Amino acid sequence: MKFFIDTANLSDISEAEALGVLDGVTTNPSLMAKEGITGTENILAHYTKICDLVSGDVSAEVIATDLDGMIKEGEALAALHPQIVVKLPMIADGVKACKYFSDKGVKTNVTLVFSAGQALLAAKAGATYVSPFIGRLDDISTDGLTLIEEIRMIYDNYGFQTQILAASVRHTMHVINCAKIGSDVMTGPLSSITGLLKHPLTDSGLAKFLEDYAKGN
Ligand code: E4P
Repeated sequence: MKFFIDTANLSDISEAEALGVLDGVTTNPSLMAKEGITGTENILAHYTKICDLVSGDVSAEVIATDLDGMIKEGEALAALHPQIVVKLPMIADGVKACKYFSDKGVKTNVTLVFSAGQALLAAKAGATYVSPFIGRLDDISTDGLTLIEEIRMIYDNYGFQTQILAASVRHTMHVINCAKIGSDVMTGPLSSITGLLKHPLTDSGLAKFLEDYAKGN
């Protein structure tokens, strides 16, 4: 299972990378705005900084919502750095743009996916990644993990190569349950990764080992 971090915060990205378990980064316009990164030039420069920090795929989202605009923006993003994955919204023109880029061998991430039907369309269009937003489904009392199970079954039925990128992951139980289901990737905040470290028995066990060692030395 690949671990992506869902942020544009360089310090969080560096911390996850330093742990040695990071496979990539996802961003979106809201995450960029949260870091105060505005204006096309600054946003593009920030993507390059992120690519320089990590060795895996970095999803960069288009803002255009029409096919020509998405193609133009996506090409500019893809030209920025070989690690860039063009992130496209799950709308009709987004599906067309996905097909356009996958035919050209450019990696894509179809985002804002909330149903199995949308995930099927993304796979048919040759998406590299599909991003079902599990946390946002949970937010409206719909089980996000059920969607991951449905997509896993559909993709396995037909051998689709599109990777399921569980997005809108909010906490460690999302990560663990996605792993149980067989999601290919998860993307979440730094806390969803570092939280996996925590167990009180690890802490008390280590304290005891160190205490006993100190007795004999
Ligand atoms: C996916 O790529 C999105 O950036 C993201 O996971 C959305 O998460 P949120 O619902 O916590 O905003």
